[in-house]
Amino acid sequence: MDLYCVMGNPVEHSRSPWIHARFAELTGQTLHYGRRRIELDGFADGIAAFRADPAGMARGCNITVPFKFDAGAVAQHLSPRAALAKAVNTLTFRADGVHGDNTDGVGLVNDIQQNAQLTIGGRDVLLIGAGGAAAGVLGPLLAAGARRVVVANRTLGKAVALVQRHAPVALAHGAQLEARALDAVPGRFDIVVNATASSLSGGSVPVDAGVLQPGALAIDMMYGPAAAGFMDWARAHGAVPRDGLGMLVEQAAGAFALWRGVRPPAAQVLDELRAQLGG
Ligand code: ATR
Repeated sequence: MDLYCVMGNPVEHSRSPWIHARFAELTGQTLHYGRRRIELDGFADGIAAFRADPAGMARGCNITVPFKFDAGAVAQHLSPRAALAKAVNTLTFRADGVHGDNTDGVGLVNDIQQNAQLTIGGRDVLLIGAGGAAAGVLGPLLAAGARRVVVANRTLGKAVALVQRHAPVALAHGAQLEARALDAVPGRFDIVVNATASSLSGGSVPVDAGVLQPGALAIDMMYGPAAAGFMDWARAHGAVPRDGLGMLVEQAAGAFALWRGVRPPAAQVLDELRAQLGG
């Protein structure tokens, strides 16, 4: 049996095992996808233990918080998008070594364009945050043709570094790209993406509602209670709120396609997951 898993800490509530089991069922693939909680200082040991599992042949894994940086370090081969993001959410074990990739950004882009049906081309995008979650999506947002992307972060220096690293991508796609402090975001945006952890610590939305174009799409990368504050704020200010469930399913679809060479029906699985979660 081909084995896959999601590794993280915490990982108990991850929906990934259910999503991948459903993908496998719908595409007729035979595999097992589990979850592994890894000690905070034990990422390399966690990978080794998974690869030694006698239950089958470990083929790859998804990586979630807080190991997306560690995962880059164990990979012998990095895709260009993972190298740019400096974060890895998908590892594939091949004969020539461990391959690291990042499907988070394409997951967000697919969720916006296919599930929310909003073309990113020509739009103004505000990306709030400059940590691993934001880093994973900036390149794909630029590649999708955004007209202008502003990265706003509490620590301005981190936004500046992220923007500098992506300057060649912005240039290649003819996009304007700038870094700002949270209280100095200029103008209004068609798409606002919350990639901060502020809601987890009970904090309020870290930018002024003036950033929202009327009818803007406002996406939190989290889902469930962690996304509620941002979504309420967006709704109250005339924007269309969206949680991160679609991005979760789409990034999983990207990983599944890399591993199995077949594209699963992500929109169907997203509908099923929403029905299951009652929303
Ligand atoms: P992740 O991998 O989830 O992105 P991270 O790398 O720790 O996690 O990044 C967390 C992001 O949330 C950062 O952009 C962080 O801002 P700083 O770079 O200034 O630390 C942001 N963040 C966390 N708590 C926040 C809060 N209360 N208000 C605003 N931004 C916050």
